[in-house]
Amino acid sequence: MVHFKSECDVLIIGAGGAGLRAAIAAAEANPKLKIGVISKVYPMRSHTVSAEGGAAAVIKSNDSTDYHAYDTISGGDWMSDQDAVEFFVNEAPKEMLRLEHWGCPWSRQDNGTVAVRPFGGMKIERTWFAADKTGFHMLHTLFQHTLKYDQIQRYDEFFVTKLIVDNGQCCGAVAIELATGKIFSIAAKAVIICTGGCGKIFPYTTNANIKTGDGMALAYRAGVALKDMEFVQYHPTGLPFTGILITEATRSEGGYMLNKDGYRYLQDYDLGKPQPKPVLRSMELGPRDRLSQAFVKEQEKGRTLKGAYGDFVYLDIRHLGEKTINAKLPFVRELCLKYENIDPIKEMIPVRPVVHYMMGGIHTDIDGATSLAGLYAAGETACVSINGANRLGSNSLTELLVFGSRAGKSAAEFASRINSSNFSIDSIANDEIKKLENFFVRRINGSEKIVEIRKEMHKSMEEGAGIYRSEKKKKKSQSAIASLQQRVQNISISDHSATFNTELISAIELSYMLDVAEAVVQSALQRKESRGSHQRTDYPKRDDQKFLSHSLAYRKDLSLPEIKYAPVTITKWPPGERVYGR
Ligand code: FUM
Repeated sequence: MVHFKSECDVLIIGAGGAGLRAAIAAAEANPKLKIGVISKVYPMRSHTVSAEGGAAAVIKSNDSTDYHAYDTISGGDWMSDQDAVEFFVNEAPKEMLRLEHWGCPWSRQDNGTVAVRPFGGMKIERTWFAADKTGFHMLHTLFQHTLKYDQIQRYDEFFVTKLIVDNGQCCGAVAIELATGKIFSIAAKAVIICTGGCGKIFPYTTNANIKTGDGMALAYRAGVALKDMEFVQYHPTGLPFTGILITEATRSEGGYMLNKDGYRYLQDYDLGKPQPKPVLRSMELGPRDRLSQAFVKEQEKGRTLKGAYGDFVYLDIRHLGEKTINAKLPFVRELCLKYENIDPIKEMIPVRPVVHYMMGGIHTDIDGATSLAGLYAAGETACVSINGANRLGSNSLTELLVFGSRAGKSAAEFASRINSSNFSIDSIANDEIKKLENFFVRRINGSEKIVEIRKEMHKSMEEGAGIYRSEKKKKKSQSAIASLQQRVQNISISDHSATFNTELISAIELSYMLDVAEAVVQSALQRKESRGSHQRTDYPKRDDQKFLSHSLAYRKDLSLPEIKYAPVTITKWPPGERVYGR
């Protein structure tokens, strides 16, 4: 099989918000560098496009970066690195204004100033938005801005199968061009992974089908640790079957959560009292971990409703009226009409907690650098870490700007210092190409079905690594995932065609997901405390003495991942109690 070759100075894997922001920053840092942006989908289809509610940054005069930092840190149950959070909150307003100058149509107040809405766990409203299509507008703005740089070269619909590492340094990647099946090695002096999260390891998720943890697995296989993987965020309001996100903005505009008796049940969970209007710190705007946990408690009390796809409760926005819904939540209305056949102006929306976001990810420092020279990461795939044990809604869109930019600049500086002739990437790439040839040319086939392994992975992740966890359930998941890891080696692929071979890609994605899943389960098993989104029925209390530290999962070839720990950076905010609604 022919080995096609390409090269650039900085290679960015992933073309969502973080990837595009990193590309712009790298191009600006050194205009002489050639920047490659590789994505398994056309950039406009990256998952950033589906973000709805908004992006947080201080703009109001009664707000402050210290308030934003405190909300983020207490929301994260003190697992956030506070130096990273301080950098984040200070850069956030600058990045948001920059996006405005690049053309992002932020929603405005009547007097023309940028409008902000409150989001969960905030003291003061600071979520900028573009109606309820914020991610769509941000992604388009970033994409259009990249077009101004001739030195940015895109590899659209290329799927990365391996990072190339030589002499202790990451120096490129091997990728399949999906339209042709041609296999490329792309040499680079620095690589930035921006591939988003891995919600698809769970059965019900807001995440698009493309979010299969590819970048996390690539880094993990290259010896880089996955940090804080036990912290998995459930969003309290997903549609029951599809998992499609119904934005928190519905509650920030004044929506209610109702159980089967029509009762605003959140008042029973230490989140505050019912308020007639949206107010800051109202119970419907508690942090996501607490709201998702309250759902499970309601379920245990028999106060949820039964549906074909599990239990659900109602989100009621009827009282907001048609005008507000059409102006501020038009996408929510569209989604409800298209996917549930209900009109939220007249009917209540059935919702349940669904997996939304990974607080954990590739272990990076504040520059986005990993422990592998030349390898960087930013956005949801990375753990820098600002989100700790529970991310606040609307921090992630801003995070991908702030840390996408920082990683882009750092990688460009690194690449500017490197002499690429020190690497011999051909022999490393050829090994990977031979493996891929097995599918395309030699037609090697196994007997295990992709769909069966995926179903079993989903079941064991939901049971063992869901909202409430225990030793017993997790041990069961651990052995289930270990056995699926064996079975995936013997996968059956009946399609050996070169053009858009989606079966082969699904098989590789499945193997990525299993790697990430094993890191989630093992990290969760070893964290014997409850903190933020990680709630253990057998260890119900937070334990700062033993566990105020980041978990680091390292891949082991023939056994379970090894978990090490690293300290959390505390600057100004010593660990305290998380208090809401008081
Ligand atoms: O509910 C939402 O709009 C989600 C926002 C976020 O995850 O930041």
